[in-house]
Amino acid sequence: MFDLAKGFTNFNHGSFGAVAKKVKARQNELHLLAEARPDRWFRETIYTLSKESRTRVASMIEASVDDVVLVENASTAINAILRGRLQKGDKVLRFSNTYNMCIETFKWLGVEQVVVDINFPVVDDKTLIDDFSKAMEANPDIKLCLFCHIASFPTIIEPVEAFTAIAKSVNKDCIVLIDGAHAPGQLNLNMEELSDLGVDYYTGNLHKWCYTPKGCAFMWTADRSGNKDYEGLAPTVISSTGMTSYADRFAYVILLYYCSSFLFLLFVMSLPRFPRRLTIIPITQLIINRHKTRTCYAYRYTGTRDYTAFCAIPAALDFCNELGGHSTIFKRNHDLIIAGAKICVERWGTFMLCPEASYGVMADIVLPSNDYEKVLKVVKRLEDDDDTYFLAKEYTVGGETRIISRISANLYLELSDFTTLAEKVLQYLEDAA
Ligand SMILES: Cc1ncc(COP(=O)(O)O)c(C=O)c1O
Repeated sequence: MFDLAKGFTNFNHGSFGAVAKKVKARQNELHLLAEARPDRWFRETIYTLSKESRTRVASMIEASVDDVVLVENASTAINAILRGRLQKGDKVLRFSNTYNMCIETFKWLGVEQVVVDINFPVVDDKTLIDDFSKAMEANPDIKLCLFCHIASFPTIIEPVEAFTAIAKSVNKDCIVLIDGAHAPGQLNLNMEELSDLGVDYYTGNLHKWCYTPKGCAFMWTADRSGNKDYEGLAPTVISSTGMTSYADRFAYVILLYYCSSFLFLLFVMSLPRFPRRLTIIPITQLIINRHKTRTCYAYRYTGTRDYTAFCAIPAALDFCNELGGHSTIFKRNHDLIIAGAKICVERWGTFMLCPEASYGVMADIVLPSNDYEKVLKVVKRLEDDDDTYFLAKEYTVGGETRIISRISANLYLELSDFTTLAEKVLQYLEDAA
């Protein structure tokens, strides 16, 4: 089903994903199409196909298509949002396990970071919510809160709905950005509901758990942010097509029309018992739609580059549907990671960093050694001798530095692979002693 090398056992789908063979075949077709007639491809086809892709993504995440743009990865979206909305000296709030790209961007921007520690092992969401609430109350002047829907390392599904409600109740103007890099394909996403709670921006990668080619993600902007702050959301690359859409140009003509008819409308509205909303709505709608159109316009072309990953999104979503849909795939992989992690924990005499319900299809397990150099030798030996890869990193757990393995489940793994991993790690640690 995948293009992973024959014999390679990958326990780290979480970092870079894997494209499905069928989806890669569609991308190859698109590459040929692009090369066969470059002008038609760049002037017409990419717009038609990526609009179809945006429509499919919008439907998957319960969003309006005009609020969704395609970007190469979560880093691109988060950079556009942070750089567009923050200034030096602003105060932001994040958790201690925030993905490093976000931390580096905060540093580069020169913002003040309020960090809420997540103490592992985590018992339940309550402590996280209480700690966040205290931090928010102590810092009501926070300009932006960054939450991770499924954190990378240590991994945990975060109660972003509860966090958002607290953030907005303390400071309704605080911007809420959710880094959902791992969420599409794992969690049921509903932007309408998140928007109602007050979430302003959401980004999710499709190249991790939706099996698209690499370089494929979306950025969603809540309607209100899109309108108010469009200028701050310019893509990092402003292309030759610019930021002024055809809709913009026509809007001026239409605005002229509205201006000239405004006096007439005022007159009509002043008539007794005139339904006022009928007159106000078209004017407001015109302005709203103009901004939405501009956002989509600015992001749809970012220079000469490979757009085939975006255009292959429908093939990837079809692939998932053929396998029963995201929920079915998720259930299979979630059950596998929990069963696999339990095997490792048992064999290694250690523990997981979170309760089962806080895991999607990745889990963190403490390794049975505190010697990082030795563990790195084991990782290397597994790679060289067994064509197997798993991720191991140091992290503070219960006040002590421990070595953690983040393992991922996916369609190409079976439970027996986890048994083999558990045994080999033990054996290689012993050999390295
Ligand atoms: C939580 C989280 N956020 C953001 C990213 C960045 O994703 P990308 O490298 O696709 O931009 C990652 C990557 O693994 C991640 O785990």
